[in-house]
Amino acid sequence: MVVLGIETTCDETAAAVVERGNDGVGKILSSVVLSQVNEHAAFGGVVPEIAARAHVEALDLVIAKAMADAGKTYDAIDGVAAAAGPGLIGGVIVGLTTAKSIAMVNGKPLIAVNHLEAHALTARLTDGTAFPYCLFLASGGHTQTVAVLAVGDYVRLGTTLDDAIGEAFDKTAKLLGLGYPGGPQVEKEADRGNPVRFPLPRPMHGRPDADFSLSGLKTALRLEAEKIAPLSDQDVADLCASFQQAVVEVILDRLRAGLRIFRVRYGEPTALVAAGGVAANQAVRKVLQRLAFERGTALVVPPPELCTDNGAMIAWAGAERLALGLTDPMETAPRARWSLDEVVGVRKPPSVFKRLGS
Ligand code: KG4
Ligand code: ZN
Repeated sequence: MVVLGIETTCDETAAAVVERGNDGVGKILSSVVLSQVNEHAAFGGVVPEIAARAHVEALDLVIAKAMADAGKTYDAIDGVAAAAGPGLIGGVIVGLTTAKSIAMVNGKPLIAVNHLEAHALTARLTDGTAFPYCLFLASGGHTQTVAVLAVGDYVRLGTTLDDAIGEAFDKTAKLLGLGYPGGPQVEKEADRGNPVRFPLPRPMHGRPDADFSLSGLKTALRLEAEKIAPLSDQDVADLCASFQQAVVEVILDRLRAGLRIFRVRYGEPTALVAAGGVAANQAVRKVLQRLAFERGTALVVPPPELCTDNGAMIAWAGAERLALGLTDPMETAPRARWSLDEVVGVRKPPSVFKRLGS
């Protein structure tokens, strides 16, 4: 089956056409991603209103290009998928409404995809990873360890109590006067810095749960920077290296806890899967490799363009859901907040409470 996917939850306007064979093997027929990074750079972060307007302006063209690149007409597709949340609500409305119109006009089913579910299922598109697996999702908006048990059956094992890891990288970059988005800049500076110069905390270290916390680390970094201001180039590099080292050690400890909980509840995962922009960081990749090796588990890290936000992951999640007969009504509402635990699948129907309430 062939599905068109639309992604507009943050600052990427993206559309893609993906094919899923009856054997479950996926193929990306086209993928178009228009980043709004330049529009937001001057503000040091994503401005929701600017993002929504930019999606409105670009989406039709992005979809038309995705369809043309795939060589498909609407007749030839089996469904239209859009990220229906979680995310910046203005953008989500633009993407979901557009998907509904295309679906309605062409008489195709709508699949309202949870953006996090799409990140979670990408490993099945790229590597055909079998269930159950352990997902580490670290982006600008999310930091979660998730047990991926089946399509629509996800259990969040741990999450951040405050900032996301990517957000902490971005805030560190802003504090040190580096550009936006901050992750790649901090990584570049860290490469020539001293990772043990500044004594930064490792929040939540040793706790039996799998939750993360990053805000204390960010505050400690600011205090260290203030102590030695004005900062030399070497100070900036050392602060970045010390910060990245702390983050990597936090990931190691928190994911160890997450994997332990996974094993107790669900047995061995088939793989440790990484997703989200932070997985592009080499030091983070190294620590994930170490963890996977330590646990005798395979590590799956999709290519960077599929780790960050894109339309192919939405189309793929749509195809996986469509293959199970999971489609959505035209009344489906966009959602700014939508936890993975709330996603519904075949094995996990809506809760009795929700059915009674709706
Ligand atoms: O998944 P993504 O493209 O977008 C969402 O947030 O959904 O992730 C972007 C985040 C940003 O916070 C960015 O700073 C971070 O991923 N990031 C990195 C690196 N590349 C991107 N963080 C650390 N090191 C990197 N090399
Ligand atoms: Zn994302």
